[in-house]
Amino acid sequence: MKTIMAANWKMNKTRSQGEALASEVAAGLEKRPEGRDVLIFPPATALNIVSQSSMGRFETGVQNFYPEENGAYTGEISASMVHECGATWVLVGHSERRHIFNEPDELIARKVNFAVEHGFKTMLCVGETLEEREAGDLRKVLTRQLTSALSGQSPEAASSVLAVAYEPVWAIGTGKTATPADIAEAHGLIRDVLRALFGSACEELPILYGGSVKPSNTAEILGVDNVNGVLVGGASLEAKSFLDIVFA
Ligand code: 13P
Repeated sequence: MKTIMAANWKMNKTRSQGEALASEVAAGLEKRPEGRDVLIFPPATALNIVSQSSMGRFETGVQNFYPEENGAYTGEISASMVHECGATWVLVGHSERRHIFNEPDELIARKVNFAVEHGFKTMLCVGETLEEREAGDLRKVLTRQLTSALSGQSPEAASSVLAVAYEPVWAIGTGKTATPADIAEAHGLIRDVLRALFGSACEELPILYGGSVKPSNTAEILGVDNVNGVLVGGASLEAKSFLDIVFA
């Protein structure tokens, strides 16, 4: 399985800023990182130009979409709209969508099902809040999030188009990275749940870590069992630091 080095720009970068950053990242990938795939989730307004700037050196994905073909859903964008902008991936269930925009498990499951049916590679984000962790609910929360989102999926999808990103909410944008032991525990739990859902096909499903990933901690994180990539927020907003992560 290839390691996935993914950037989530969140609500950062205008179209022209996105073009400049994507071009710099593409230039830095002239010598391809061995065994690693690079992926960028820009804001939707920059998706087209970022895809066009990739020189085929990274894939792109959308941070959010609504799971209907089209229709009266003011303010939303559809999967076919983002497909035409070059996106091959979708991000679903990010903690900011769950907590700031109150996306429930049921909507997240609909998004996963819709994206997979429409041929997108789909990265499902899961992770516990500090409160849930301190209450000893890590296993319960991860099991609920994974089972509700993925129980409609087949082992074939698990081994070909699905990825999971473990992002502990308390480590996102805080500078607090989970320790290697925390990451090993959570990724092991996630692999167990995936095994129960998909059997041996789950061994091909990448599990990424996200939460204050930076150039200085990437190699250690990638060395943890069951870590198959990273999902980077803040440190992906500048070409040098993202490229340092990609090549760490
Ligand atoms: P930071 O890397 O800024 O902590 O963000 C992580 C994240 O949420 C990526 O999706």
